[in-house]
Amino acid sequence: MAKGKGLALCRILHQVVDILPGSWNSQRARAGKNLGEIAMTQFRPFEMDSIPIEEQFMNWKEIVKPPYDKKSVDAYTRTRVILMNGIENASVLMSHAIERMTVDPEIKRQMAAMRRADSMQQQTVDWLNPANQSVIETTLGYEQVAVDLTANLAKNEPDSYVKQTLDFALLEDFDHLYRYSCLYDYIEGGDPESIVQGKTEVKAARPTIGHHRHPDETMRKHYDKDTADIKTKMNYLTIVAGEQQTELFYKTHGNMYSDELARQLYSEIADVEEEHVTLYGLLGDPNETMLEKSALMQLCEAYIYFSCAQTETDPRIKAIWEDFAKMEISHFEGCANLLEKYEGRDIRDIVKADVIEPLVVFEPNKNYVNKIIDEQLDLMPSNMEYKRLSELSDEWASFKFQWKVNGAGVPSEEVVSKANSELAKRDQAENVKQFKRQLSERTQNVMASQRERMMPRP
Ligand SMILES: [Fe+2]
Ligand SMILES: [Fe+2]
Ligand SMILES: [Fe+2]
Repeated sequence: MAKGKGLALCRILHQVVDILPGSWNSQRARAGKNLGEIAMTQFRPFEMDSIPIEEQFMNWKEIVKPPYDKKSVDAYTRTRVILMNGIENASVLMSHAIERMTVDPEIKRQMAAMRRADSMQQQTVDWLNPANQSVIETTLGYEQVAVDLTANLAKNEPDSYVKQTLDFALLEDFDHLYRYSCLYDYIEGGDPESIVQGKTEVKAARPTIGHHRHPDETMRKHYDKDTADIKTKMNYLTIVAGEQQTELFYKTHGNMYSDELARQLYSEIADVEEEHVTLYGLLGDPNETMLEKSALMQLCEAYIYFSCAQTETDPRIKAIWEDFAKMEISHFEGCANLLEKYEGRDIRDIVKADVIEPLVVFEPNKNYVNKIIDEQLDLMPSNMEYKRLSELSDEWASFKFQWKVNGAGVPSEEVVSKANSELAKRDQAENVKQFKRQLSERTQNVMASQRERMMPRP
């Protein structure tokens, strides 16, 4: 393949690197010069240098690097670590799913190599989290990722339906950050500000009690692979990765608390994340081939590592992002080669851009989030669109579903009463109270009329 100038350059670079003396790392360092400095502020995947796959495997001491210091770490360094772990996890899981549906041994072999490198990268990234950061502290980091990542993607999303879906779930993860903050105060006496560092607000939004919709309401329309902007495809893969890893984290850590309410809260919010993974996952075009999806996933990994490297304030961690971005470019090239060989397609006809912009940046989004709260707090999904709670028909399946799952008490409500009064009063905003009142009245009325209909007539 190597139709693009950048890919050809990378191949020459690989040959040069192959004959250099010294360790893999010194080769990497040399390989990183010159070509890597083509355009540091723009993500130009076809012009970036890469690291050959055989040089990406690390020894055990290289994989596990010292963790960051939780007391001095910048909140957004922590969120970058959490996000990149999620991106790698998504890449590895997608690759495993595809290998099981792939017949060709050469595709399977090459995917195994890339996957192994991605898997090692994931361990490096996830092991940057320190042991003294408690599960609930890491959880607040996960929800801070969800808020400020989703807001950044939504602000820069060209597809209005995808943007609406991001804005919709943004308000839910924003509320999860608040509910978990109450738990942090209750079980550890912790102050959520020590994690979010004033960059992300901690208060109620669309209350979690209203997030529990019938599975039918997780259905979504998908973008069209032929007309969607590459930024939409990158945003899609990024948010699915983040949400998937969040769900997995809650499901593997919620059982680590002995406190009954903590256990229940993790379970309740993990269930909402399952909704989020479904509704976001369905935004992707199922007509993309497996190799096309693989190439886009690897491109997404490179794009997000590159984005993280541009804004990282910890030089040691910045070097990891830079190094791993180059590895991902080689995975992307590998997938592009497979696409050309097995489907006769040029990756440039899929990406359709030399630059993917803007970069994904972690920064405060308070004004944006407050605007979405003001305008959309009472939105609910219905038939793959978004409606006001007041506009939903009595047939909306989620009334009955909520009546069922919320029927014996709701941990996300109970946890507020366990938090200090200052945190607890943030659940008393008029728009939040009004939403809960309205939802409760509608649910009770709908269930009462259903019961009436089912009563035998005299
Ligand atoms: Fe990776
Ligand atoms: Fe979520
Ligand atoms: Fe990768």
